[in-house]
Amino acid sequence: MLDLNEEEILPLSLQHTFWTWSAQGSVSPIPVKRAKGVYFWDIHGKRYLDFNSMTMCVNIGHGEQRVIDAIIQQAQELPYVAPAMASKPRALLGKLLAEVTPGDLNRFLFTLGGADANENAIKLARAFSGKHKILARYRSYHGATAGAMAATGDPRRLAWEPNLMGGVVHFLDPYRYRSTFHRTNPDISEEDFCLDYLNHLEEIIQYEGPQTIAAILIETVTGTNGILIPPPGYLQGVRDLCDRYGILLIADEVMSGFGRTGEWFAVQHWGVVPDLMTMAKGLTSAYAPLGAVAMREEIAEFFRERVFQSGLTYTAHPISLAAAIATIQVMQEDHLVEHAAEMGKVLHRLLNDLGEKHPSVGETRSIGLFGAIELVRNRRTRQPLAPFNGTSPEMIAIRQFLLDHGLFLYTHWNILLIIPPLIITEEQLAEGFAILDQALTIADEAVEHSL
Ligand SMILES: Cc1ncc(COP(=O)(O)O)c(C=O)c1O
Repeated sequence: MLDLNEEEILPLSLQHTFWTWSAQGSVSPIPVKRAKGVYFWDIHGKRYLDFNSMTMCVNIGHGEQRVIDAIIQQAQELPYVAPAMASKPRALLGKLLAEVTPGDLNRFLFTLGGADANENAIKLARAFSGKHKILARYRSYHGATAGAMAATGDPRRLAWEPNLMGGVVHFLDPYRYRSTFHRTNPDISEEDFCLDYLNHLEEIIQYEGPQTIAAILIETVTGTNGILIPPPGYLQGVRDLCDRYGILLIADEVMSGFGRTGEWFAVQHWGVVPDLMTMAKGLTSAYAPLGAVAMREEIAEFFRERVFQSGLTYTAHPISLAAAIATIQVMQEDHLVEHAAEMGKVLHRLLNDLGEKHPSVGETRSIGLFGAIELVRNRRTRQPLAPFNGTSPEMIAIRQFLLDHGLFLYTHWNILLIIPPLIITEEQLAEGFAILDQALTIADEAVEHSL
């Protein structure tokens, strides 16, 4: 195989490739050489603790031999078949997924990742319902293709407007720490807080006309936009509104699925079965690209005599399917969902301790191994350490400190995301938190001491 000197990896990558989500002149990629467990190493031998599972996707951890072997075996046996053909991994993965997904989500349409899973879920919902509008939330990310970007509520959508898919209407998220409706009464009960947001959604349904709304698309637990965990009753309330008004519920579990929250899928915390559920990332733990739309039998049945007018060359790619089968088996054999729930308690405690110690911590949130630290300049006013859709010298300095000290994670405006591989141990969590503890002194210095 063509090879090169390790020192050439970075300059050649910079010279010939075009980088996503970046100005080409300002990228500074880590040249990664290898990865194992919860760590990865750069070409100079520097080790990083991966507190973000790369792109919130390597759920079972790096370098898992059982998945690598399955990929090799599938590549040797049958690396590709046309999407219209049946194959052993297709047969096996469908069966396995039907076992781990809730309710009668028993049919699966395979895609290449999360964005096109959401695109296809929208197509299915529109065709099935005969209606066109999609309601989605502002603090959401659903992918970077035109339809998924239109559904995305966060500012990543704005650069591509107005040439995105039409028919999306956004509504507000039940984000308690920065709740629009409760600035003057932040101590409102959980029940009333939840009700206010369900009433808000119902009002929008009425204004838009339920007869025009195909689906409500939500991240069950909001990911990049800050680990926003729905209050008790919210998800059931959304499900009830969907049932009352004849609207389909699409749960985007691209990030929250596959053990991340301490259940196979986050909807299971609240006993809700969506009509369509999208997944990707943890589905193969990123050992190969794959997404899927799980659908209720009734939706699949609708297409028994009707053609589903869509598809992709790499739909149900056998190598990706083999990676998914092996990933699910690893999760089952090693009880990783249970482990994530257990370690989630440790993460929760570590986050609380950090919050008590550092005045710059406005709020911490977590469910399973899905956590966030929201940094503020002032706990009373809740002024964020970086503005909406922006950054600040302090956030840049914190990120640099963490990288310098071998801790890799994502930051989102004023929020630090903690999304480690599910195999992480208590000691490894503590190791990362010791570095975070030091880094937060940078944030503490920015805290306003006056009222
Ligand atoms: C909740 C959610 N949905 C969809 C996507 C898009 O997935 P992909 O990047 O695989 O297209 C992401 C990616 O981060 C996501 O977090």
